[in-house]
Amino acid sequence: MAARERWASRIGLILAMAGNAVGLGNFLRFPTQAAQNGGGVFMIPYMISLILIAIPLMWVEWAIGRYGGVRGHGTTPAIFRLLWHHPLAKYVGVLGLFVPFVVSCYYVYIESWTLGYAVMSLLGMLPKIPATAGDPEAYLAPYRDFLAHYTGMGEGDIFRPSPIAYAFFLITMVMNIYILIKGISGGIEKLAKVAMPLLFFLAVILMVRVITLETPNGSAVQGLNFLWEPKWSELANPKVWLAAAGQVFFTLSLGFGAIITYASYLKRNDDLTLSALTASSLNELAEVVLGGSIAIPAAAAFFGVAAAQTIAASGAFNLAFVSLPAIFANIPLGQVFGFIWFILLFFAGLTSSVAITQPVIAFLEDEFRLDRRLAVLITMFVLFGIAHVPIFLAGALDEMDFWAGTFFVVVFALCEVLIFFWAFSPSAAWAEINRGGFIKLPRIFFYIMRYVTPAFLALITAWWLFKVLPGYLAESRWTAWVAREVLVSIMALFCFLVYYQDRRRRRRKK
Ligand code: TRP
Repeated sequence: MAARERWASRIGLILAMAGNAVGLGNFLRFPTQAAQNGGGVFMIPYMISLILIAIPLMWVEWAIGRYGGVRGHGTTPAIFRLLWHHPLAKYVGVLGLFVPFVVSCYYVYIESWTLGYAVMSLLGMLPKIPATAGDPEAYLAPYRDFLAHYTGMGEGDIFRPSPIAYAFFLITMVMNIYILIKGISGGIEKLAKVAMPLLFFLAVILMVRVITLETPNGSAVQGLNFLWEPKWSELANPKVWLAAAGQVFFTLSLGFGAIITYASYLKRNDDLTLSALTASSLNELAEVVLGGSIAIPAAAAFFGVAAAQTIAASGAFNLAFVSLPAIFANIPLGQVFGFIWFILLFFAGLTSSVAITQPVIAFLEDEFRLDRRLAVLITMFVLFGIAHVPIFLAGALDEMDFWAGTFFVVVFALCEVLIFFWAFSPSAAWAEINRGGFIKLPRIFFYIMRYVTPAFLALITAWWLFKVLPGYLAESRWTAWVAREVLVSIMALFCFLVYYQDRRRRRRKK
């Protein structure tokens, strides 16, 4: 058997894992979620979810990945089969391909907008409307139209992206393919070592610029007050808890299979406890400190606190692609700051999109013995084809994000802990996590991982099934059903590949 690839250095591994986690979610999704879900009190369910679900799951995913990688497998169809001797195990593991692949089909497209906007900002191609007193909505409208025209989302049922948007999508695809073909240590690790320090540097520049913003409408400090002012009554609202748990998952890339695949390139006795904690901490720094101090405070300084609230409620994309360009158009060197903002998002996106496409690539390499180049080209070719669904069909992106990016993530995470801490063996799982660890985990985490994390995840799953899903299904449009057909086909394809590979494997053994 050919040797699997390995990370070249611990710092490279940690930066790659941090790059996996730090994405658009840190700078866009986090501040809008916090603003919509109780402001400062959002951090209470957020921190509780972090300690009881996210960090334990992080260790579980690293350990599952390292366990599989040492045995030649980087994805869950094969790893679950090793951990749980049941014919169903490999099909549960299909989720570890389905989730990241579906998300990659729209993630790369969103990522390409950030590159497009970075270039257009630098070249002065974005609208430049002088700020006026009065209704910010009127003033933001040209920016909203510009985004609608760019993505083609504003014009009726069917998307018609602008040629520029499509061109940047192609460029982004090529960049991803280039990095992925170079491999784990030669591509992904090298990228992370450059992009992550640069990303933190750019974010600090922006943060400093934003904190010093002051206009007649307000100041960034008022924006920070608004974002962090605790609205205590919201603590009793289950929606806030669900949103916090969802954000913690999303931002740390948990339940996507991407961390498992990255961890499969560790060596048998490599530290995992401290490395996983370090990578998670870098993500939280980028999220809570940097992500919380840029977009919302800038909007508050510029449009006033009340308008910033409306903007936050109108979604992450409006904040990034509508409000911030409008602000940058009105500050000195705005084109440059606009470029910094979007290129920052692009680096955040690029280090995540290579992570999210790697599981399927690893699956083809490990289970079908394809060489890396071929595995990358096949994966990206199919991704490219399917990406046309969210690009051209309005509503498909949200539909894919709902199923793969939100619902199945939680289900898959629940399967992971159950398989590792129940079907496999609790003591072996605990030993696996701690082997080679630079820090020894307090014993209490054993009980958290075995009982609390799965219970919490089961509760969230049940909530989704009974409270969210019925309402969601009731109001879907026809385009949603087209997107669902596509999702079912992708799931069927992966199930077939897993079935076929397993049959071949058993024939060979006989
Ligand atoms: N964590 C990323 C963000 O904050 C998004 C993400 C979710 C992701 N799951 C992933 C990225 C899996 C890579 C792989 O934006």
